[in-house]
Amino acid sequence: MANTDSCVTVHMAASLDGFIARKDGSVDWLETADEFVGGDTMDPKSVAAFLETIDCYVMGSRTYETALRFANSGFGWSYGDKPTFVLTRRELPKIRDTVEFYSGDLAQFVHGRLRPAFRSIWFVGGGAVSGECLRLGLADEVRYTILPILIGDGIPFFEKLGRDVALHLAEVKAYVSGMVALRYEVRGSAGAPAKHLDA
Ligand SMILES: NC(=O)c1ccc[n+]([C@@H]2O[C@H](COP(=O)([O-])OP(=O)(O)OC[C@H]3O[C@@H](n4cnc5c(N)ncnc54)[C@H](OP(=O)(O)O)[C@@H]3O)[C@@H](O)[C@H]2O)c1
Repeated sequence: MANTDSCVTVHMAASLDGFIARKDGSVDWLETADEFVGGDTMDPKSVAAFLETIDCYVMGSRTYETALRFANSGFGWSYGDKPTFVLTRRELPKIRDTVEFYSGDLAQFVHGRLRPAFRSIWFVGGGAVSGECLRLGLADEVRYTILPILIGDGIPFFEKLGRDVALHLAEVKAYVSGMVALRYEVRGSAGAPAKHLDA
């Protein structure tokens, strides 16, 4: 039975022109040097407290491969000790015990496995998996962090969406770094969009 309190979030950072990575997968442009006077600052304690509210992560295999490269280059693992589900039809190295691989029907996985067990479920990329999640009507909210840069070409945030998805703008925050964080609720989603899960 579905956990009616569960919330499926799709979150990524993108360039102003809507790309989450360059065509070759690189994300070097995520580091920008802008300054927006009057913007909010990110307090590491609040960020850590907010991350604690996330119960599990879901990602596509290409995002996982980027995370593996980061970890193997000494930049650590961004998903803490939270269960992290990687969608893939391939055999991939398992970097830690919290990583679990899944292949198959995404709707069945979200409704049958994730929603009954977790409250705050975060899809963290990439474009293919975000597109699939929204196309299938599985997401309750979209968090889109826009960076102050245009990169011209790359991997789009929502790949092969194939339909309109009506949204409700629920929150806007601008930061000193020039980043703008948008939170939208998906209108008419199957989960529990009525209630926001922020701490
Ligand atoms: N800017 C950001 O915030 C951000 C966030 C995340 C990722 N990224 C970047 O985005 C890029 C990756 O995005 P992407 O769109 O190319 O790929 P992706 O969404 O990360 O992964 C797509 C892959 O996931 C697997 N998959 C998807 N649905 C599946 C299902 N139902 N069952 C089993 N497997 C499934 C397939 O892999 P198999 O071929 O293994 O079966 C598919 O090729 C990377 O460069 C990453 O660095 C950026």
